[in-house]
This record gives sequence, structure tokens and C-alpha cells, in this order.
Amino acid sequence: MGKVLLEAKSVSKDYQGRLVLNDVNLTADAGHFIAILGHSGSGKSTLLNVLSTILTPASGKVFYDGEDISSFSKKKIAELRKNKIGFVFQHYMLLPNLTVRENILLGAKDGTGEDELKELCALLGIEKHMDKYPYMMSGGEQQRVCIARAVIKKPEILFCDEATGALDKDNSINIVKLLHEVKNRFGTTVFFTTHNREIAKTADRMLVLEDGHVISDYVNEEILSPDMMAWGI
Ligand SMILES: Nc1ncnc2c1ncn2[C@@H]1O[C@H](COP(=O)(O)OP(=O)(O)O)[C@@H](O)[C@H]1O
Ligand SMILES: [Mg+2]
Repeated sequence: MGKVLLEAKSVSKDYQGRLVLNDVNLTADAGHFIAILGHSGSGKSTLLNVLSTILTPASGKVFYDGEDISSFSKKKIAELRKNKIGFVFQHYMLLPNLTVRENILLGAKDGTGEDELKELCALLGIEKHMDKYPYMMSGGEQQRVCIARAVIKKPEILFCDEATGALDKDNSINIVKLLHEVKNRFGTTVFFTTHNREIAKTADRMLVLEDGHVISDYVNEEILSPDMMAWGI
């Protein structure tokens, strides 16, 4: 087993008294691809938001690199998000008035070099689009730009919430492949929520959520290559 980067211990979260996460436990090893599989409304986004410091759990704790994040100051939380965490969402959320290059650089740390930008954009296959505006690009291309924007700072963890939710089969497979490549190239820990079991099968670890409970959590012994994905929904 590798180093544990993120751990949730008995995390619960309610909205107006209705529990939407109920005693969730998980550990994420550094450099693993972790899928959170569940139907709509099962609590995937809420879980991701709790793990990524956006929401505070009602009870239970989240540990980042062994430290309880509820003990972090606002400044330390802000630094964690800025330096170590990247986000990719279903809706691309690019700024329409900025070029691809400018959008990606929004996510960069000071001093990011042109070489780093080029290498990442080549990995993601968007190097030819750098001077375009988002409206000139397909959904799949825009999502690759979002991945570049999230990854340019080399985050330790990338949280992807239904990142293929708006894409067709081929583009979804491509995005999943690219996220695996990011993981392999930079050692990024990737969390990926989905309602698609085939995508979840490509992960190192899969958690299945139902009504806020983790109903199964297993280390994948037979990891499915993204190339081999059938498209069962
Ligand atoms: N801000 C909110 N206020 C009230 N209820 C919410 C809020 N966000 C999510 N919920 C409810 O919590 C449950 C889990 O939602 P969510 O985490 O978005 O599930 P998923 O991402 O799996 O579709 C749903 O029943 C949803 O309606
Ligand atoms: Mg959701």
C-alpha cells in the first residue's frame, strides 16, 4: 500500500436535517484513481465537496496528508486549495472572453514556463487550439482545456465531478484516458464521480454510494483499460 493522501472518517452531512452522507469512510492512496459511482442524488457531489474542503461535514473528519482539515485556519485551507487541489466539473466553466491559453494560465502558479504549458497541452491534445476562444471548440475540447487549467499547477489531487457527464461516448472515453495519463505522468491522485460503471471500472479503487452510504469499496484487481471500455450505462 502506498502513502495515504486523503482520508474520511465517519463523515456525515445533512441538509436541513436530512442526511445525504451517512457515516462515510474512505482512504485514498497518493497517485491512485478513485471512482465514486452512484445514481443521481446518491451524494457523490456532496462527498466530493466535503473531501475538497468546499463543504464542512456535520460530523466526522477529513484528513489531508494525516492532518485534520477541520483544524486548519482559513488561510491554510485557501493555500491547500490554491496549491494542491484542482477541480474539473461537468459544465466546462471556461471564461468566454479569454483564449484557451489565458484560461489555462488562470490556474497556473507564478513562474509557470512556456515549456510546461506546451508539454501539458500536447499531452491533452489541445496545443493547436491555444489562441482560440471557448465558443470555437467542441465540448470534449473544452473539457480538455478545463483539465489543463486544473493540472497546470501540478495539484496533488484532482477532483472531477461528472467530468464526462455532458459528453458522448467517444469524448468520454478520451477524457477518462487523459485523466489516467495525467495520473501516470504527474502522480496526481484523481477522484472521479460518475454514474457510469464502465468508467468506474478503470479506477484503482471504486466506491459505490447509495443514499449517502458507501455500499461497497474495493481495490480494483482487474483494472479495465480505458481503451477496452464498453459503454454500458
Ligand atoms: N445545497 C443543497 N441543499 C439541499 N439539498 C441538497 C443540496 N445539495 C444537494 N442536496 C441533496 O443532497 C442529495 C445528494 O445530492 P448530490 O450530492 O448532489 O448527489 P449526486 O451528486 O450523487 O447526484 C440529493 O438528494 C440532493 O437533492
Ligand atoms: Mg452530482
